Parts: sequence; structure tokens; C-alpha cells
Amino acid sequence: LQLLSVASEMYPFVKTGGLGDVVGSLPTALRGYGIQTRTLLPGYRSVMAALENRRLVLHMPDVLGRAVDLWEGHARGHTLLAIDVPELYDRPGNPYLAPDGRDWPDNGIRYAVLARVGASLAQGCWEEWRPDVVQTHDWQTGLLPAYLRYDGIAAPPVAHVIHNLAFQGLFPRDLLHAFGLPDHAMQMDGVEYHGQIGFMKSALQMAARLTAVSPTYAEEIQTPAEGMGLDGLLRSRSDVLSGILNGIDLKEWNPAADPSVIFPYAVGDVVGRRANKRVFQAEFGLPQNPDALLLGMVSRLTTQKGADLLAEIAPRLFEHPIQMAIVGVGDAAIMRAFATLQSRYPRNLVCHLRYSETLGHRLHSAVDASLVPSRFEPCGLTQFHALRYGSIPIAARVGGLSDTIVDANSAAIAEGVANGILFSPTNADTLFGAIRRAQGLFRQKAIWARLQRNGALHDVSWEGKAAYYARLFLEMAGRDPRSAD
Ligand code: ADP
Ligand code: GLC
Repeated sequence: LQLLSVASEMYPFVKTGGLGDVVGSLPTALRGYGIQTRTLLPGYRSVMAALENRRLVLHMPDVLGRAVDLWEGHARGHTLLAIDVPELYDRPGNPYLAPDGRDWPDNGIRYAVLARVGASLAQGCWEEWRPDVVQTHDWQTGLLPAYLRYDGIAAPPVAHVIHNLAFQGLFPRDLLHAFGLPDHAMQMDGVEYHGQIGFMKSALQMAARLTAVSPTYAEEIQTPAEGMGLDGLLRSRSDVLSGILNGIDLKEWNPAADPSVIFPYAVGDVVGRRANKRVFQAEFGLPQNPDALLLGMVSRLTTQKGADLLAEIAPRLFEHPIQMAIVGVGDAAIMRAFATLQSRYPRNLVCHLRYSETLGHRLHSAVDASLVPSRFEPCGLTQFHALRYGSIPIAARVGGLSDTIVDANSAAIAEGVANGILFSPTNADTLFGAIRRAQGLFRQKAIWARLQRNGALHDVSWEGKAAYYARLFLEMAGRDPRSAD
């Protein structure tokens, strides 16, 4: 089966978060189920630079008023299609934000062109290759099913992945024609959303199938509390909506062969990893006390992630033998709060307020527990990284976090199935309580080691999860889904 995956980011070429990780790791897992993926990306500078053996496959003189060169090339085992329009994509840095931190003012047209080229490929504009199924990701690709509907040309079905409903891609209605859409698209059952053009909404309305990135998130978004205004639409499409949990690339996340890990150790070797805590404390100027509970967080520093709550309780935490390391960027106010805390508590807190893959990996190999105090979390990948590296996740009981973590309550400990700590609802007091509970367990060395080993054994790979996607795509293409088994 031939799959066209259309996305705005893909690790390791361009990544702002988990979306990039998923787009970059799912194709390899799908190959095991006989699914061949081509990934269509905007030709950002980093993507064009990554293409090997590239060849020009199409020149499209007028895509929404722009001349497009479509290149095919290979990179890190992937087959990529890159949309070369320098005026739209040849920009360094974050794909969505200008250097001043604001959205690029032309993001609407930048991602409409991505969706438009994807739709044309689906319709067969490139004679050499035509997909059997199209997969789109988040708001950036949300117009693709709309183009297919309003063109009315035969095309394969679209499965849209909801990674995060909080980002909806809303643009002024006067851009309708610039986006190449007809007047009658501006309706409730079309692209219209509260008087604007909604990219995410379009896909939720028009894609043949919808998948959310965890089973719990698939349920949550159908409720007014978590549906971000789209819960009614999602309820009306519940028959085509399902939740498939993400996985991670076990080659990228292997503490025995990770160049970012100072003292490599086998997965589950809770003794072998200890030296990493010592050297991490030394590297960041924290007292080398093995009995201090060392907490870590690798995350966007936003209210979604509960980073503000952590800053709020930090002074209370540091009355106890607790240390904390933060690797993150995000809201300016939250970053300022952490910088101030660091200068007040230099023996407890170290902050690396930047993006660093190396430190992101190293942190999970060194800390005792990894924090994920999210207010909502579609799936979350850092809890997978933590489990795999022997760090205990302390996480809010929401979305994909509750689908991954088994809380260390006394029953689960007695059964030997616990692998982390969950708390709810998400607020400063429950977070504080969860960390204090972790501290109590941390003092009971045998129980803590058992939690670590359970976590390391937990299947965080793509294997089983990719099978769900494979069956879905086969079914959508009218083939026998059992051939994926
Ligand atoms: P989201 O996509 O909502 O940001 P996820 O947990 O799904 O959350 O994925 C975030 C990804 O980005 C993970 O791979 C995480 O390790 C990585 N990440 C986030 N912030 C940083 C940072 N400052 N440095 C390095 N990696 C980061
Ligand atoms: C989004 C979500 C995150 C999820 C990621 C990958 O960014 O916020 O929870 O893990 O997408 O699906």
C-alpha cells in the first residue's frame, strides 16, 4: 500500500515538538506492515539541504499563485517530496515563527500551498506515483480534504491525525480565494468556523477518518471541557474517530548506544545508570548528593505543560532534599520565572532555557523522575523517554499520560505493575503532593528500583501501534485489514 503523509515538520529535518517525532518515526514502523510512505514537506532550508539524490519530479507553474518545483529525494531512509517555493519556505529556524517570536504573517498561504500540492498528488497530477491513502497531520494540512471535496475529482481517502486540538489554524475569511476555495466552502459544513476559515476544523469535517494520538484523548476531545469548541463536530463524527497511541523510535532512544548519555547502560539496568546522576549534578553545579531526589523536565514551557505550576511550587519543594533540572523553551513569563528561581536556589535548580536534543536525552538518563504535569496532553512523548531510560514519570492523569502510566498506589505496587506516579486534577497542590509521594517511594530503594524496571519493560515502541494504522489504511483502501496481522 502506498501512503502519502503530508506534514509541516519531520524529525530530524525540522521539529518543534512531538508532531515532528511522530512524522519522522512512523514510516519506518509502517514498512514492517507492507506500507510504503512518501512524506510531503514544505521545502524549508533544512529540508532542501537534507535531500540526497534529488530529482525534479514536477514543475507546477501556478499553485495558489506560486510557481512550485516538487523534488523527490531520500534522507535517513525516508522518501521525501519537498515543495520548493523559496519565497514561502526558504527561512531559517522555527518553521512557524519569525525571529521576533510571532507567527509568520503568511502562514495561511504557506500551509494552504502544502495542502494544495498534497491534494493534487492525491488526484494523480504526478503520473509516476499515486497514493492509495493520504495521511494528514494537524491544522497545517487541514485544508487538504477540503480541496478534494470542492474539486470533485476522484481521489484516495484521507485519514487526519489530531495531534493537538489547541492549535486550530484560523485565518480571515477574505483569504478564501487566495486559498483557492470557492465561495460555497464558507459554510458550517465546510471550512467556516465562527466567521473565519478553520484549517483544523476543515479536516475534522471532511477527512474520511480521524485519529487522535491516544485513546483517552479521542474520548476527551468529544467533551465540552476538552473539545476546544469542536467537541460537537467530533461527537457527530465519532463513528470515524479512533485513538491510536504514539510510539517512539527505539534506536534513537537506547541508553546503551546514545551518544548523549555519558555512561551508557542497558535498558533496565538501574545500577548502571547511577553514575549518570552524579556526573549530571557535577556538570550543572548541583551538590552531588545521591539521596536528593533529582527531578527533570524536558518540555515546551507553556501552561498546557503545567510549567507555570512547577515554577509556583518550586520554593516549597526546595525546603526538602529535592533538586530539579529544566530543559525547555516557551512562554516568556514562565522562562523569566525559572531564571529568577535559578538565581535564588542555585543549589537546587538548574535551567537550560533552550532547545537541546543532547540535553533532552541526557536528562532522562540522569534524573530520578521526569515531570509531565500537563493540563491536557494528547499523547506526550517525554513519559516514553523517561520510562525507557529508567526515570520515573510523575504525570497528570490526562490524555496519553493516563494510557501509558500505571500509578504506584499500594495495590499496583503489591501487584508489581506500577511504573510511575499519576495525579489529578492538575493544579499546584496535587503536583506538590505527587512529588512528595515520589520522595517517599524514592526512599524505599527496592520499590523504586521495581518501578524503574517495570518502566523499562513497558512497550514504548511503534510496533503494535503501527499495526493499528496499517489496518486502518488497508481498510480505507478497500483491502483486507487482516493482511497487516
Ligand atoms: P509536544 O509535542 O506537545 O511539545 P511531546 O511530549 O509529544 O509534546 O513531544 C515533545 C518533543 O520535543 C519530545 O521529543 C521532547 O523531548 C522534545 N522537546 C521539547 N522541548 C525540548 C527542548 N527544550 N530541548 C530538547 N527537546 C525538547
Ligand atoms: C502534540 C501533543 C503531544 C503529542 C504530539 C505527537 O504536539 O501536544 O501530546 O505527543 O503532538 O502526537
